[in-house]
Amino acid sequence: METIQLDEFLKQHYSQSCEFIADKQEAVQRVNHDRAREMSLRKSLDPRIVRRLDAGFARSNTVHPDTGRALYSICFASGTQNVFETGTYWGFSTAYLASALKDKHGGKVYTFDIYQKAGKHIPKSLMPFVEMHKGLPSTEMMPPVLAKIIPELFFQDSRHDYEGVKEELEVIVPHLKQNSVIMFHDFVAPEVRQAAVDVLDGYTIYVLDSSDPQQVGIAIKN
Ligand SMILES: C[S@@+](CC[C@H](N)C(=O)[O-])C[C@H]1O[C@@H](n2cnc3c(N)ncnc32)[C@H](O)[C@@H]1O
Repeated sequence: METIQLDEFLKQHYSQSCEFIADKQEAVQRVNHDRAREMSLRKSLDPRIVRRLDAGFARSNTVHPDTGRALYSICFASGTQNVFETGTYWGFSTAYLASALKDKHGGKVYTFDIYQKAGKHIPKSLMPFVEMHKGLPSTEMMPPVLAKIIPELFFQDSRHDYEGVKEELEVIVPHLKQNSVIMFHDFVAPEVRQAAVDVLDGYTIYVLDSSDPQQVGIAIKN
């Protein structure tokens, strides 16, 4: 599996340059600013307590800012209109994606989370670009939406066990067209990578070179 830098991925697949990312820093900074409160609260807590709280509420850490930049850049550069995301949590990854759609003047993030309070921190200005589905497993909530909407970008960040990732991919992959992109959070986990390799026949799969310790996988349909 090839490791790729974000700039290289953008150049290879969308003929976009690194200057493009620099131009868009402002949009990404806006979302980073909105999440600063949570990040500072987390910094002041013992990481073991954060992990225990997360486990107790069946949720875990939100994405690293580098991953936010990758979500924003790939969503923007690919010209995606319809994004699917599993694992909304507070809504920070949703906000990076919705921010790209807003800057492109259109599209929607269809985001799915079993947790009823998911999406609490999505900025109001981004809500016209978000449709939330909450309260049931993603594999039950996605099919009725997939009957009407064809996603071009899928961000997988809910379950990170082999079966969980595989089940979500099996629901969504039959709907994806050529050049569609799937991004995986927690690609550091061998079971997430294995599920991607086992289901994604005909895709090129990369590991993104970034400082996110959880790592990001990117698969593009050939
Ligand atoms: C790692 S968090 C998502 C973080 C979020 N993407 C962010 O960057 O802020 C994982 C989320 O997945 C949700 N989740 C876990 N299993 C799920 C399932 N089967 N269906 C839908 N959501 C699920 C949890 O409730 C939790 O909010």
